[in-house]
Amino acid sequence: MGRYIVYGGKKLFGITDIHGSKNAALPVLCGCIINSGINVIRNCPKITDVFNTCHILEKAGCKIKWDGSTVIVDSSKARFIVIDDELTGRMRSSIIFMGAFCGRFKKAVVSKPGGCRIGKRPVDIHIEALEQMGVVITEGLNCFSCSAGKMKPCEINLRFPSVGATENIMLTASCINGVTVIKNAACEPEIECLAEFLTSIGAETVCENGKITVCGTDKFNNTEFSIIPDRIEAGTYIAACACAGGEIFLKNANVSHMKKVIEVFEKTGCKISFCDGGIYVKSSGKDITPQNVKTGVYPYFPTDMQPQLMSVLTLAKGTSIINESVFENRFNHALELNKMGANIEIDGCVAAIKGVTKLEACELTAFDLRAGAGLIIAALTCDGISYVNGAEYIKRGYEAIDKSFADLGVSVRFENR
Ligand code: EPZ
Repeated sequence: MGRYIVYGGKKLFGITDIHGSKNAALPVLCGCIINSGINVIRNCPKITDVFNTCHILEKAGCKIKWDGSTVIVDSSKARFIVIDDELTGRMRSSIIFMGAFCGRFKKAVVSKPGGCRIGKRPVDIHIEALEQMGVVITEGLNCFSCSAGKMKPCEINLRFPSVGATENIMLTASCINGVTVIKNAACEPEIECLAEFLTSIGAETVCENGKITVCGTDKFNNTEFSIIPDRIEAGTYIAACACAGGEIFLKNANVSHMKKVIEVFEKTGCKISFCDGGIYVKSSGKDITPQNVKTGVYPYFPTDMQPQLMSVLTLAKGTSIINESVFENRFNHALELNKMGANIEIDGCVAAIKGVTKLEACELTAFDLRAGAGLIIAALTCDGISYVNGAEYIKRGYEAIDKSFADLGVSVRFENR
């Protein structure tokens, strides 16, 4: 447990490195189970969800060795284990071990991942797709038992481009000789990163316009692979600059993954430019232009940037609208922002944010990872000291957010409790 103590009222000035992407690292690390060899994974973020994934890999007999931000996964002695609720309870995205285990071990037993504060998080799309691939899945009270001895390549058409389901299918298909096609697939940069990883170990995988083609194999090779930069981490610091003001440079940020985010923050009044090393942002922190934004699957505005944007829009010169179309309950942070003096009204999946002139420092609670980041951003705009409880959520997805903000000239201090 713990909290972040935010010393607000200062503009941001400085340069910070953007770390490897959480949502790319998790499926790639899970994929290391597939090739029964040595996987050198560079630019891996040191965050709780990565440590939890490595914990599962070690329980399954992989050898893990860290060298800076490089993690070496030796999966040559990996063996089948039950992914029990102790493991899925720590991190619901461990459901994608189902695909990797069906691929490597031709069986999987995975406890049902719970929902979380942002939604029920069902896995029906995962299950339907794997069954279509020939996996026989028995649903127990608390877990799914999968028998994958007779899988076959096929064409799968997803009813919704679920990121996790797409990853589960890709991981399974990489071990099925023949060509598996996924239509209406997720096409986030993190999906493309997983495709490049699978190609690097021998299962050529191509993503194009929402269609993914996986050429599965039973002959894999070792790999050295780099994780893409975290577009949500980079967007988080852009949002902080947009409302606190200042001039920052985000090293290693990949602008091609962030077109919609950059478009929206330029419309709020930020000056954003890019050179090959990263993204430069300048903002007065004043006269923020209200926005009307709907979150959506890539390449639309990412749901994982919604709380951070909401914090910025609480100080806009007018009323903004956010329509959260991906998750059914992702406005928990709005109640916390209203405690600071924001004026946000929620009606189902739509938030109306009437801009106010300033927010008041106070004690806040994060209920999920991105909400926590959004609250820190809001607290940076206030004169005085705010407290953001629920640091454990934030540490799941941000490597040393306190150090990154220190690089940018403001003080966000972690306090264990
Ligand atoms: C991934 O979650 C990310 N997590 C989330 O990031 C991100 O918000 C989400 O994709 C959307 O971009 C990781 O990559 C580890 P989905 P995932 O399956 O895979 C519904 C963060 O903050 N759905 O695309 O769980 C689901 O309920 C996290 O880093 C079904 O109905 O997202 C949701 O409404 C938060 N049935 C929508 O689809 C299914 O079988 C999107 O879910 C699967 C999903």
